[in-house]
Amino acid sequence: MSQKHFLQFRDFSADEFGYLFARTRVIKDRFKRYEKYHPLVDRTLVMIFEKASTRTRLSFEAGMQQLGGAAIYLTTRDSQLGRGEPVEDAAQVISRMCDIVMIRTFEQEIVERFAAHSRVPVVNGLTNEYHPCQILADIFTFIEHRGSIAGKTVAWIGDSNNVCNTWLQAAEVLGFNVHVSTPPGYEVEPERAGLFGTDHFEEFADPIDACRGADLVTTDVWTSMGFEAENDERRKAFADWCVDADMMRVARPDALFMHCLPAHRGEEVAAEVIDGPQSVVWDEAENRLHAQKALMEYLLLGRIEA
Ligand code: CP
Ligand code: NVA
Repeated sequence: MSQKHFLQFRDFSADEFGYLFARTRVIKDRFKRYEKYHPLVDRTLVMIFEKASTRTRLSFEAGMQQLGGAAIYLTTRDSQLGRGEPVEDAAQVISRMCDIVMIRTFEQEIVERFAAHSRVPVVNGLTNEYHPCQILADIFTFIEHRGSIAGKTVAWIGDSNNVCNTWLQAAEVLGFNVHVSTPPGYEVEPERAGLFGTDHFEEFADPIDACRGADLVTTDVWTSMGFEAENDERRKAFADWCVDADMMRVARPDALFMHCLPAHRGEEVAAEVIDGPQSVVWDEAENRLHAQKALMEYLLLGRIEA
């Protein structure tokens, strides 16, 4: 099946992202002017959640309703997926009853298998490996505040998790650099990150060095969903990887701070940074809504030139 999906960041080209960022701008501006825009009337989004969510659920569900369509929320607990129905069978059935599917789950392999058996577009709403919708919104947010991200430097401080991997893929697709600093033992695994090479990132033992001259400093929780058993061990290992004022001071004076949220003040980020003047975390969260509306419109209707 040659259906288009968004399962990892590199599924789209730089040209497609250029379109999506421009389209997000149009959709956001119209929404702010309270203009009705219902291109997806009679279209249904099914959202499958195997992990918790606030932003992803809200932004997809509200976004689909605002575009005139409907959204259905399924979880492992209240569907047969939790009782062992094969992903391939679920994909066959679900994709005959709706127009687009969003899945938040554990291994990337699950969304890949679902997509391979789906008649409709499938969107990755977070897996252990990737979070492409987050970085779509994050880069739109960067562009809103600072213009093109091409050639810029993003400092990633903390765990080389799903969000980090997606930043690294985005750097390859859109031509920017990522400075990564993780504690020993938590380094980037280029193959797991789905990278073509190592040209777009550099690793730093000291997080201060990673932040030096950065245009954007970003981080995420020390323990991602699904890894809770490692929590105590991680709290010890990550203690020196808290983004604080000293780190922001060595970044560019106009550097932004982002966090996909939810955040833990005093762990991966100091309160004075996330609540400080360089932080754009609320714009970043809001932009999930606008960017994913552009994404759903694109996957269902293709490019709109108006
Ligand atoms: N950033 C993000 O995906 O948030 P949720 O886990 O609340 O969806
Ligand atoms: N890395 C985090 C992101 C949450 C939005 C997790 O996977 O739990």
